[in-house]
Amino acid sequence: MGESLTRKIIKSHLDSGSMTPGKDVFVKVDQTLTHDINAVMTYLAFEQIGLKRARTEISVSNLDHNLLYIDFKTPDDHIYLRTVAEKYGVYVSRPGNGICHMVHTQRFAIPGKLLMGGDSHTPSGGAVGMLSIGVGGMDVATAMTGLPMRLTMPEIVKVNLTGRLRPGVNAKEVVLEMLRRVTIKGGLGKVFEYVGPGVETLEVPERLTIANMGAEMGATSSIFPADSVVRKFMEAQDRGDQFVPMAPDEDAEYDEVMELDLSSLEPLIALPHQPDNVVPISSLTEHPVVQQVFMGSCTNGSYSDFAKAALVMQGHHVDENVQCTAGIASKQIYKQLMKDGYLDMLIDAGVRIMELSCGPCCAIGQVPPTNGIAVRTSNRNFRGRAGSPNANIYLVSPESAAATAIKGTFASAWDIMGEDAKKLWEIHEPDHYFIDDSMLIKPLPEEEAEKVQVIKGPNIAFLPVPEKPEKNLQCRISLKGRDNISTDDITPAGAEFSSMRSNIPLMSKYCYNRYDPEFSERARELVKSIIIGGENYGQGSSREHAAINPMYLGVKCVIAKSIARIHKGNLMNHGIVPMLFENPEDYDKLELLDELEIENFPEQIKARKVTVRDKTKGFSFDCKLEISDAEMEIILDGGQLKHLKKQLIEKGIIKE
Ligand code: F3S
Repeated sequence: MGESLTRKIIKSHLDSGSMTPGKDVFVKVDQTLTHDINAVMTYLAFEQIGLKRARTEISVSNLDHNLLYIDFKTPDDHIYLRTVAEKYGVYVSRPGNGICHMVHTQRFAIPGKLLMGGDSHTPSGGAVGMLSIGVGGMDVATAMTGLPMRLTMPEIVKVNLTGRLRPGVNAKEVVLEMLRRVTIKGGLGKVFEYVGPGVETLEVPERLTIANMGAEMGATSSIFPADSVVRKFMEAQDRGDQFVPMAPDEDAEYDEVMELDLSSLEPLIALPHQPDNVVPISSLTEHPVVQQVFMGSCTNGSYSDFAKAALVMQGHHVDENVQCTAGIASKQIYKQLMKDGYLDMLIDAGVRIMELSCGPCCAIGQVPPTNGIAVRTSNRNFRGRAGSPNANIYLVSPESAAATAIKGTFASAWDIMGEDAKKLWEIHEPDHYFIDDSMLIKPLPEEEAEKVQVIKGPNIAFLPVPEKPEKNLQCRISLKGRDNISTDDITPAGAEFSSMRSNIPLMSKYCYNRYDPEFSERARELVKSIIIGGENYGQGSSREHAAINPMYLGVKCVIAKSIARIHKGNLMNHGIVPMLFENPEDYDKLELLDELEIENFPEQIKARKVTVRDKTKGFSFDCKLEISDAEMEIILDGGQLKHLKKQLIEKGIIKE
């Protein structure tokens, strides 16, 4: 039997381990990426490791999320991130160059390479046949040391695409349909590999949309073959010489097979408050007033996305009740839209063009009004994601967003254009993009880099380092959460909060701020505590602050029904033991402030089975640890930083 593309890439990067799904593999990482609101902790960790230079082929630090500069904190962070990148041989994508995933796909992604990025939407790079995996910031610091990275060998799902998207139907509908079928945790431990005759009808940015939102299914990654469409894209980026054809074998074996006929799709919408809550727009019976429409983000910020939105809006104007904004994903796209007249069309229709940054997607600006309805082309609609706890966020394609902005309520391109929607088929990606790398700072030669002084403003505090698990742990429950707690619930997004992420003592005061405003104070008073979670605990953004802040507040374990992949890794990296209920019904018996006791904790961790005594209620329950041997070592060493240093010393790469 032949091999899937994913297995081929993993095999070509394999250092050790078994390529059996669920087992650990250790792989050499070629490229890393980070972004400004997650990365300060990554580079503080890298500085502590003591290497002179990043040992990857390419590492990129993107300054793209928080460009509002509401006070000194974020500009200080950006100066730190720039100087630390210069010191350690890392590219810097300056503010204004674009959003990390689009910039990386346009300027750095290479078929067959392996990318790890400190952002959950890193799988976007799968659009060009590069295996791209979102991880926590500490994992990126580890990858930058050049040590092989641990990866749980995924199951590979073949998604056989047939047919062709109808006009007015976007690649967004493909991934919304995937979410509808697979759900937000159905992708756990899987890579979705898109193949079949429908693939060649999708241009690279369309593939990016699909790979990007595979993250919402909890998938390890999503990937497309590097075919003639990718070759054309790379040639249009003046990077044709870096193209390498990559495809699965014709008789490739897969763990699961799905069929998706592109021609069968119609405009879809994800209803609040989960991205898998998907229905056809045509099925909606209520048509409330929409206050905000946001087009763009890393998911749908491409040239074609905006050109199609502009065509839908041509000759119309944004409804008087709607604030419609556009966040274009990169500078080269912006310039092309300007040249081709689409920017004019958007502005004439009343669209407000924003910074080339993430912005509204992570609540950095454009927070909806009280009880407001916001329709967005971004990827997440969790409660609070837009910065308002009572807003309702709906996810759609750019064509539907444009139509909604005009109608003032939910609509698709078909409602505005009728038969004219066929004109949308005439829009394609440019044959050649505006290549201008003046906003990329290249790594300095080593001798110059050594002289760079890393500048840290007063908001950049220390990286807290956890302790090893205690022998006998006695502490109370500091929080009992429902199902699907997201990292946005744990560490709120927004301009104000994002700028605190380099200062854990400050940021930790806002831990769980919107979900349980008393949590931070309670956890601090308890000194040590345990969090109880439901299903899919820690879903969403990769932000490791959702692990660092609770750790700083004394949280020692999370016991949940299930824990999302990236967050589970972040918990272990930062010394919080992730445990699962052996019997999920025990969740119902526990209450806030119950006193729990775990005897011989390190020994029980080694057995992967931990008995917890609820002293308040007088009963015991069992938990399991679904961890590999390598993950167990990280936990027992007291987190990834200590573990990594131990490894580097053992290998003689750094001195004690
Ligand atoms: Fe940025 Fe939102 Fe994507 S925060 S990286 S545009 S998910």
